This record gives sequence, C-alpha cells and structure tokens, in this order.
Amino acid sequence: MNKVPFWVKVLTGVGVGAGASVVVKERLSGPDFDAPVNIGGKVAVVTGANSGIGFEVAKNLAQRGAKVYLACRDKDRCATAREEIFLETENKHIYCRYCDLGSFESIKRFVRRLQRDEEKVDILINNAGVMWGERETTQDGIETQLGVNHMGHFLLTNLLIDKLKQGAPSRIVNVASTAHYKGKINVQDLNSADNYSESGAYNQSKLANVLFTRELAKRLQGTDVTVNAVHPGIVDTNIVRNTGFFTTSLMFILRPVVWAFIKSPRQGAQAVLHVALHPDLQQTSGQYFNLREIAEPSKDALNDKLALWLWLTSEKWTKLEEMRKELNVQPLLLPGETVGNVPLPNMKQRATASKVVSSNKDIISDVNSNVLAS
Ligand SMILES: NC(=O)c1ccc[n+]([C@@H]2O[C@H](COP(=O)([O-])OP(=O)(O)OC[C@H]3O[C@@H](n4cnc5c(N)ncnc54)[C@H](OP(=O)(O)O)[C@@H]3O)[C@@H](O)[C@H]2O)c1
Repeated sequence: MNKVPFWVKVLTGVGVGAGASVVVKERLSGPDFDAPVNIGGKVAVVTGANSGIGFEVAKNLAQRGAKVYLACRDKDRCATAREEIFLETENKHIYCRYCDLGSFESIKRFVRRLQRDEEKVDILINNAGVMWGERETTQDGIETQLGVNHMGHFLLTNLLIDKLKQGAPSRIVNVASTAHYKGKINVQDLNSADNYSESGAYNQSKLANVLFTRELAKRLQGTDVTVNAVHPGIVDTNIVRNTGFFTTSLMFILRPVVWAFIKSPRQGAQAVLHVALHPDLQQTSGQYFNLREIAEPSKDALNDKLALWLWLTSEKWTKLEEMRKELNVQPLLLPGETVGNVPLPNMKQRATASKVVSSNKDIISDVNSNVLAS
C-alpha cells in the first residue's frame, strides 16, 4: 500500500480541525433568533452600527423590513456599512447619520435631525462602545469609556424619549456586559481623574449601563416603552481584538482554538435581537439578560440609591435640562418628582468638586453645586 504523503496528512488534520471548530462554534452559540417578527414600517436606531454586533443587529433589523438609522462616529465607515446592508437586504431605508457619542453637541444634532425626519422611534439599540486603552477624555471632558458607553447613551436616550413614546409599544436595549459584575461606581472619582485603570473604567461603564436600565425602567412605567440590558457573549469584534490580551503572541498561537469558543459578530447579535424583538418580552422592562435569559445582575446593579445617584449625576454632567429645553423634549420624572427637586442621595463617599471632571470647569461647578446642596 502506498504511503500517505506527510503533506496530505497535515492538510487532512487541518481540515478536520477547522471543521470541528466550526461545529463547536455553532453548537456553543445556539440557534439564531429566527422568530418571524415583522417590523416593516418600524423605525430603529442602532448606535455603533458600522461594525461588530451593531452592524449585524442593524442588518437583521433591515432584513425584517425596518427603517434603520446607523448612528456612527465615522462617516466613511458608516457609508460602507450602509452599502453592505443595502446590497444584502435590498432594503433602501437604511440611513447613515453622524453621531459621535463622545460629543454632546453631536448627539444633540443627531436628535434634532431625527426629530425633523421621523414621527416616532420604535427600537433604540444603545450598542456603541469602547474598551480599555490609555485614559482619554471626550470632547466634554468625561473619561472616554464612561463618556461613550454610558453618558452618551444616557443623553441620546433621554433626548429621544418623546419619539420612543410616540412609537409605543417600543423598546430600548442597552448592550451591557458581564464585565459589570466586576464594576464599581467610583462615587468619589467617577471620572477616574485621580486613579485610572483601563479595565476598571470599562467595568464601571458597563455597571452604569445596568444601573441606567434599572432607573430608566422606573421612569418609563406606564408608557409602554421598555428598556433592558443584555450581555451578548464574548464576541470576536474590534473591541476585543484591540485589548492587550488578544494582541499577545500567546493569543496569536491559541487563536485557532479560541476562535471556536467565542462568538462571531452575527452570533453575538442574536441575544440583542432576542431582547429587542421577542414577542414574549413586550412587557419586560428593567431586566438584565445574560444572552437570552434574564439573570441576576451584581449587587451594586440592584442598588436603587446608586442608580438614582448615577441618574442625577448624569443629568448634571450631560446638561440634560438645557438640552431638553433646546430640543423641546419632556423630562422623564419619577412620581412626585419635579425637575431638580430630588437631591442627590447621600452616598457614603460623596463626589467633591475637585474630584469631578477636572477637565471641564462648567461641569465641575454644575455637579459641585448639586452635590453640596444635597
Ligand atoms: N465583543 C464582546 O465580546 C462584547 C462583550 C460584552 C459586551 N460587548 C459590548 O458590545 C458593544 C458593541 O461592541 P462590539 O463588540 O461590537 O465592538 P466593535 O466592533 O468595536 O463595535 C463598537 C462600535 O462602537 C462604535 N463607537 C466607538 N466609539 C464611538 C463613539 N464615540 N461614537 C459612536 N460610535 C462609537 C465603533 O465605531 P468605530 O468603528 O468608528 O470605532 C463601533 O461601530 C459594546 O457596547 C461592548 O461593550 C461586547
């Protein structure tokens, strides 16, 4: 019998390995969200829609017939994504809109244009995110991970709230992460001005996503607008690829094995789609989903006092009241609350003027007066 050449053995091994990896990957991820939900005529906004999970979510919503606004910080990347979605779905109602979540001015302009263009919004996917890296600040002086992942979405959602009410029953989905379990809201140094750790700031921002979901759900009671947070799984996207660990040479060697165990962006989008579209979740609000299941978030994420503190602080930092007035948006109040009548909860460690947003004087004095008044 002829001996099998070595190169044939190698190729066969690689082929079998690759096939097994694909099977493992599909098995572990579970089936796609394929409930036949028709969203023709609905209006969806997806932040960070030009890549990763956001791109796949936007494409799926387009496939189902929605009018989709891709809210992105880079016009060219957005245009490329729009083109790709259009070619694949043949849905003409896909629009690129500039929206840098690291700039309150940009968010305001985005909302102003949408107010002119649309009567209502049915689905808002707060997906855009940044992870790790050196400490940087947004245009408004906020540490970038907190600024983009939480503050930007806080402002965007509040400014779109009237449109979401018009679209009711409508849904907001905040893309959070299991990273929130390790997160702490640093009440004394929320802006990581004194002490910065890249993972600490990311974890804090993802805990902020879950706390924001909780407080927002309370304020939305009785409106038929729901909000939930979801962890999409570990997904092979730019955000993960750029982290230190994934760029090590060890990872370069392990990558083919690791690949089988982490989700593709399409697979990562499924949990987000489930929470945004599943008919059984019409009344579900204020929950944290781990993939497609409701899960118990961290103890801090269930702290109502902390959620209120973060909400009121975020109102101040984003100058929400001013923005609302400019765009003629109604405030979202708790029963019995009037604008500005709720003092910041007296947290154990209160923010002090010198420790809050040291790079933006206006915001410092704004937060300071509020904190000192409480
Ligand atoms: N991948 C995971 O394993 C994982 C796990 C848990 C949670 N998540 C969450 O999933 C979400 C999506 O991330 P991904 O994994 O899909 O990563 P990704 O591919 O890097 O997508 C992030 C998106 O956010 C956009 N973005 C970043 N800064 C922005 C800004 N200032 N304004 C507007 N858009 C901005 C990015 O735009 P550019 O292309 O212009 O940078 C990109 O479109 C994030 O919130 C992340 O925290 C991801």
